[in-house]
Amino acid sequence: MNYFFLNWKMYLDRDQSIVLANHVASKDTLPDNTVIFCNDLALSEVKDIIGPERVGTQNVAWVPAGAYTGATSAHMYKQAGATHALVGHSERRHIFNETNIAIRKKMEACVDTALTPVLCIGEKKEQRDDGKWKEVLSEQLILALEDLDMKGQIFYVAYEPVWAIGTGVSCTSDMLQEVVDYIKQVLGTINQNAIILYGGSVSSTNIKDFDNIAGVDGVLIGSAGAKVESLDSMLEVLQ
Ligand code: 13P
Repeated sequence: MNYFFLNWKMYLDRDQSIVLANHVASKDTLPDNTVIFCNDLALSEVKDIIGPERVGTQNVAWVPAGAYTGATSAHMYKQAGATHALVGHSERRHIFNETNIAIRKKMEACVDTALTPVLCIGEKKEQRDDGKWKEVLSEQLILALEDLDMKGQIFYVAYEPVWAIGTGVSCTSDMLQEVVDYIKQVLGTINQNAIILYGGSVSSTNIKDFDNIAGVDGVLIGSAGAKVESLDSMLEVLQ
């Protein structure tokens, strides 16, 4: 498993984040490319515990500074020690009504600040059932990335089908292979190249399956990565 990304969402408060970060830091079997997307208020401490280049933010404002009450810019996250940013997570899209246009601006803000973006894309259950997943994914990819000069920076695309997030129902290997091939095809048409991750009900029982899919370089884990027992079980399976 090349990339082991943990999205702690709003599961853990600052003190709990510090406890779990210390636990993670104590593991000698941690994949090299481990990044923790923790709560903002814990970011600086988690960075001190887990080390540089291993902490990210779960969201980012698209403007650098100014009269934007409640927002935090890419520059501010960088200053606090973040090197990565989730952009367009489905919970941001669907609970906080983030549009593809806002997500594009957030991608631009990340590139301008050299914060490595993890663009999250994924279709809803009804879109999959209606055979519209290709349409949805290509729109999300194209609006976020077409003609965007990445300035040589690497970036990630995390395929996280909405129906797989927090449901215990993950994407099957066949389905995921088809999606990843399609994502690569769309990226090719807009001259972009990304590291591809999978997210959605990843656990110790299925994490190895995702390791074996051509074109999938790693995982973005939600709830199973926010608890000691399930985190340890995943690391054991990966050894
Ligand atoms: P779960 O692993 O809890 O399904 O969440 C996935 C996710 O949203 C990671 O960003």
